[in-house]
Amino acid sequence: MDRNYSLAIFTIFLGFVFLLSAADDGSIHDLLRTYGLPPGLLPSAVKSYNLDRGTGFLEVHLDGPCLAKYDGFVFFNQTVRGNLSHGSLRGLVGFSQEELFIWLPVKEILVADPSSGVIYFDIGVAHKQLSLSLFENPPDCTASEDDQHQRAAQIIREGRYT
Ligand SMILES: *[C@@H]1O[C@H](CO)[C@@H](O)[C@H](O)[C@H]1NC(C)=O
Ligand SMILES: *[C@@H]1O[C@H](CO)[C@@H](O)[C@H](O)[C@H]1NC(C)=O
Repeated sequence: MDRNYSLAIFTIFLGFVFLLSAADDGSIHDLLRTYGLPPGLLPSAVKSYNLDRGTGFLEVHLDGPCLAKYDGFVFFNQTVRGNLSHGSLRGLVGFSQEELFIWLPVKEILVADPSSGVIYFDIGVAHKQLSLSLFENPPDCTASEDDQHQRAAQIIREGRYT
């Protein structure tokens, strides 16, 4: 009786261990790589993410809005959403790029051909071509400190940038 009871507890415990390891299966950076995108597209500190494997809808949660430096600055909102498919992130929300002192929301990110070494950012007015190697390593992302960036963060958070 007692023995069966411990066995049952042990089995349930094992079940939980398996569930947890399944839920914690790889980082967002590994996921991006699996989808043919460079891991450095998202900051190193990602709190959590959900991917709906049916639709490709991806939601990434950061600790807070922050700025990361590539060749220029990218502003990440606390929540970044988009539709993930092989080689692309479409319908992006919460990802903006500084371009000549203007913050432009990036709507789509595309790697059409990894061997070209090129990644495209669709910033509405144009497709911007960048070097894939800029996005190889996930950058640090810091809460913006200086005034200009704080104002930009505010505007972007409130969706007043369009
Ligand atoms: C993203 O996916 C949703 C459905 O999951 C769809 O309604 C929406 O149009 C898609 N957006 C883009 C830009 O592909
Ligand atoms: C930024 O993220 C916050 C928190 O998830 C959300 O409430 C807000 O709508 C987002 N703003 C934009 C412009 O995506």
